[in-house]
Amino acid sequence: MSEQEIKVPDLGGADEVEVIEITVSEGDSVQEEDPILTVESDKASVELPAPGAGKITKITVKVGDKVKEGDVVGLYEASDDAGGSDAGDDAKEEKTEDKAEAKPEAKSEDSKPAPKKKSGGSRTELVKVPSLDGFDDVPVIEINVAEGDTIGVDDPLVTVESDKATMEIPSPYAGKVGKILVKEGDKLSEGNDLLEMTIEEEGGEADEASDSGEQAQAKRQDSKPQPTSDKQESAPQPQGSTYEPPAAGTKVHAGPAVRKLARELGADLARVKGTGPKNRIIKDDVHAYVKSQLQQAQQGGSVGTGSGIPGVKLPDFSQFGEIERESMSRMMFATANNMQRSWLNVPHVTQFDDADITEMENFRKSQKAAGEKRGMKMTPLPFLLKACAAALAELPQFNVALDMERKEVVRKKYIHIGIAVDTPNGLMVPVIRDVDQKGLWELAAESAELAQKARDKQLKPAEMQGACFTITSLGGIGGTAFTPIVNTPEVAILGVSKASMKPVWDGKEFQPRLLLPLSLSYDHRAVNGADAARFTNLLTQLLGDIRTLLL
Ligand code: COA
Repeated sequence: MSEQEIKVPDLGGADEVEVIEITVSEGDSVQEEDPILTVESDKASVELPAPGAGKITKITVKVGDKVKEGDVVGLYEASDDAGGSDAGDDAKEEKTEDKAEAKPEAKSEDSKPAPKKKSGGSRTELVKVPSLDGFDDVPVIEINVAEGDTIGVDDPLVTVESDKATMEIPSPYAGKVGKILVKEGDKLSEGNDLLEMTIEEEGGEADEASDSGEQAQAKRQDSKPQPTSDKQESAPQPQGSTYEPPAAGTKVHAGPAVRKLARELGADLARVKGTGPKNRIIKDDVHAYVKSQLQQAQQGGSVGTGSGIPGVKLPDFSQFGEIERESMSRMMFATANNMQRSWLNVPHVTQFDDADITEMENFRKSQKAAGEKRGMKMTPLPFLLKACAAALAELPQFNVALDMERKEVVRKKYIHIGIAVDTPNGLMVPVIRDVDQKGLWELAAESAELAQKARDKQLKPAEMQGACFTITSLGGIGGTAFTPIVNTPEVAILGVSKASMKPVWDGKEFQPRLLLPLSLSYDHRAVNGADAARFTNLLTQLLGDIRTLLL
């Protein structure tokens, strides 16, 4: 083993360049040409490769340092035998894999196109497809540039996809993109015309932003193009990005090492926000993106849930008219996640029925004076609570939770019922405990108190936990029926719509009766349809003759 210096190689004409990323750490084993660090000039960014296989013993520069050709950026212990250590073996395997990947090599002679025409300080070059490592007729899956774009050497021009890998064809020049001669779906082979580029000659007006043809060509040979994603490696993409989906045609600025990392982690670089110079994506960005995706998947995800269901991509709404954005409140975000979790996990069925509450309403109204004495109002809700508690006791298959992991049904011996409360801040569901053991006035008082607390944002977490079943009543607002979403892990929820007078046939004639529409949504894994019909039947009997609630 001998320690050797790692020096900055020929930078293709650039004097001083800035270190924008260090891609290895001291102690890392590298193979020849593995990227050590990325430098960036005004014109392009380039990765400096390891001069040979070995172990990095020292890095002598830091991000932000300016370096030039011949500067020492680090030291490494060259391996006597690249396959001598375990790390070496690993690295060697990876290298072998890399070699097996298809790489569009820009061949110095073959692909060096002859200048098409010269005009004043600029010339137009026809860029052709370089060697595709033996592949022919490879379809274009993405055009990464648009006419008029100013690009640097190695910026991806188009992405092609063979059976084995997805590859970007890099620009051999710095300059302005002219006519694009291919479109998505076209099949490309080596030597096909790709696009035209305008390159400013030295002293030309765009010289600042581009290289001379020769310099660019020299650089082009230094920096090797990389496959962007190998089909064999690609992991399922986590759904639900913390970042906006990029607009079509957005270019990804990232070096080959970052692309390799993204490929290994299955991260879509188009969704990663770059924090490097000029929004370049660095390794930390990829790690942060993957971390956020994992966290989101664990929390249920705001867009996808990790259940393989594709997330919803948002268009740029401002193209249709004026918009403004505001952050979701924590409550809204949590409710959205809960709803989605329930909707995706629970096979929902809704059973409808009407309860004849004519007598119940008469009784309720008769209690008005009593209510005034107590300083409270008797609404239909306490009757619904009592009826549901009785139905849960009679049909205990509704008072369960499913533990699918342990393949167990959890049977609850208590009857706590949640009531959905509409508040200015969103939907809240406080829970009334032991409903079966409480009287109508007690339930009226407790539901009114909890609803008020919900509206005042005064509910404690414990007051929103432990429900076996939920009642969601829109009867005070209106509507004839709706299909509520089960508040999982509960297995059923009763939706109540607005009662209305309807003609009901009594066998001899139509009678005006007050009918209360009920919508029972249930988890069809836990409850079968016949039981659901029994449940709503029972509710209509109990509400139709509230004396039976006493039995
Ligand atoms: N049919 C006809 N009228 C009804 C009714 C029904 N099903 N339910 C209630 N009413 C009447 C009440 O009797 C009361 O009228 P009154 O003053 O003449 O007696 C009026 O509507 C208002 O009742 P409300 O204040 O809503 O009391 P409540 O006890 O019925 O409901 C809550 C309490 C908390 C459930 C209710 O205020 C609420 O927030 N509901 C919305 C729940 C929700 O958003 N669910 C959607 C979930 S997705």
